[in-house]
Amino acid sequence: ARLVVLVSGSGTNLQALLDAIAERGTEGYGAEIVAVGADRAGIEGLARAERAGIPTFVRRVRDHASRAEWDEALARATAEYEPDLVVSAGFMKIVGKEFLARYGGRLINTHPALLPSFPGAHGVRDALDYGVKVTGCTVHFVDDGVDTGPVIAQGVVEVLEEDHTDEGAALHERIKEVERRLLVDVVGRLARDGYRIEGRKVRIPA
Ligand code: GRF
Repeated sequence: ARLVVLVSGSGTNLQALLDAIAERGTEGYGAEIVAVGADRAGIEGLARAERAGIPTFVRRVRDHASRAEWDEALARATAEYEPDLVVSAGFMKIVGKEFLARYGGRLINTHPALLPSFPGAHGVRDALDYGVKVTGCTVHFVDDGVDTGPVIAQGVVEVLEEDHTDEGAALHERIKEVERRLLVDVVGRLARDGYRIEGRKVRIPA
């Protein structure tokens, strides 16, 4: 399968996918990253792609007359690489109608909380502030809501007393360790085994 990965920051989820493909080979893993896209320049996620010799593209909202035009530009840039699956891994923008029209059903996202709890840009902090005892991460298909699409897989992470002393920085790192493994497993299975989305259920043939 051809993957386009979208990033906005450090790109450690992207790096986990790059490492898995390097280890197992494109055939073994069942997928190759054909391009990495971002909503901003100069981020480590793009540097990771460049180091791996993978084409990159940047589409910044402020370079477009409207959000809809940015969405259309992002969709067009992605379409140039003819992806089978688009992976939003730490991509911090909500894609719009045009992007979903082209990639809905083939677009997955990873979120650092147990959806439907704590959606949005501050899932780790919101879980911590709520006082939950466990949180975690969710890999899901993207629909027209924010972090509301069909859940593919989840991983649980315990919240520790000391997590309240650093605004959840250590907790987010522990979540990201689980998240990277979950994402690599899910992307590989979707790519190798195929899948069907039935309402809110995702079926991946074992
Ligand atoms: C991940 O935890 C992702 O779920 C959240 O931001 C983090 C991105 O990490 N949206 P990275 O850019 O993949 O290192």
